[in-house]
Amino acid sequence: MPDKNIIWHFFLFNFINMKVNVKSPGRVNLIGEHTDYNGGYVLPCALNLSIELDIEKTHENSFVSTDLGYSMHFDVKSDFKKSNNHWENYILGVINELKQIKSQIDNFTCKISSTLPSGAGISSSSALVCGLIKGLGVLNNLNLDNSEIIKLSRNVEHKYIGVLGGIMDQYTILNAKENKAILLNCENVKSKYIDINFGEYEILLLDTNIKHNLASSEYNIRVKECKLALETINSVNKKNYKNLSQVSIDEITKAKNNLSEKQYKRSIFVFEENIRAIQSAELIKTNNLIEFGKLMYQSHYGLKNNYEVSCKELDFLVKQTEIYDGILGARMMGGGFGGCTINLIKKNDIEDVVAKIKKDYKDSYGINLNAIIAKPGSGIKVSKL
Ligand code: GLA
Repeated sequence: MPDKNIIWHFFLFNFINMKVNVKSPGRVNLIGEHTDYNGGYVLPCALNLSIELDIEKTHENSFVSTDLGYSMHFDVKSDFKKSNNHWENYILGVINELKQIKSQIDNFTCKISSTLPSGAGISSSSALVCGLIKGLGVLNNLNLDNSEIIKLSRNVEHKYIGVLGGIMDQYTILNAKENKAILLNCENVKSKYIDINFGEYEILLLDTNIKHNLASSEYNIRVKECKLALETINSVNKKNYKNLSQVSIDEITKAKNNLSEKQYKRSIFVFEENIRAIQSAELIKTNNLIEFGKLMYQSHYGLKNNYEVSCKELDFLVKQTEIYDGILGARMMGGGFGGCTINLIKKNDIEDVVAKIKKDYKDSYGINLNAIIAKPGSGIKVSKL
């Protein structure tokens, strides 16, 4: 007759944490673009829109379904095999990464629903990946802390999706707090919360509804250009900096003749954007929204001219805002080549301005524009059911 304690433990182990609900938000970046993988500062907050995952252990094969009508079946015990359906690789990548930590992961069902538009540059993919890792971590008693989740999530993007992204999205999704931005130093992963109180202003996202194909390939090219620029700047200045964000303007200038024109422009952008992110945190803290708005425009023109990650649709939307007094700042947001612009706009003006810009955008490109009012929301939430 087995010991009662053993039966009880077996019962607890198998039946506790059978089901979890995870709400994983999108992220908005106020400023500090393409600085994360250069070890610089970013100033993001979470969005009050999220991906929701209902995950439950099952003894059968796993089944994942989405409210968009996609679904997939698989057995977690099978070896990883890349899928031809792009989105499935996020799921399969997560499982393969978790299996490196614990070989026996349980099969599960997962229902995904979302209020977060995908492909809009507000990090729906990181929300999905972080949410799934968090939920499966709880169901499989993996005790993952946030830094481990960030590492696993980046592995998924790097190894299974092929985008060499930084840590901004994951860090924000896991650590965000309502009505706060996070000033994150991506070199040492230290952060400060900055209160957001925009008063009569609001964050408005304008989604181009465009994702150019070259988005991920150009992203990886930028990562490489920055790495090569850093090597040259280090060698000319006899330094050993680990990240491009650490170099001074004098050091960049000294290396100018040894850098390609592109590498020089990328370095200047990273240097300036990093300063803008630090200054913006201070301006937001002291409610100097007019000056913050100016930095947003500067960030956009840096991303357009020196970093070259904008596109005509994003430029059009930013240009349109310049005639409205009620808009203090606008810029493209995220990786670029499509997705959203972020705008700081007077609440009372939103309706009229959006209607006008929507019409102009449709007239110029024949594409519908989506407008999202973004409230700084809280980070990931898990409830055991
Ligand atoms: C994408 C990446 C982030 C960051 C931004 C650009 O969203 O996932 O890590 O590099 O682009 O700031």
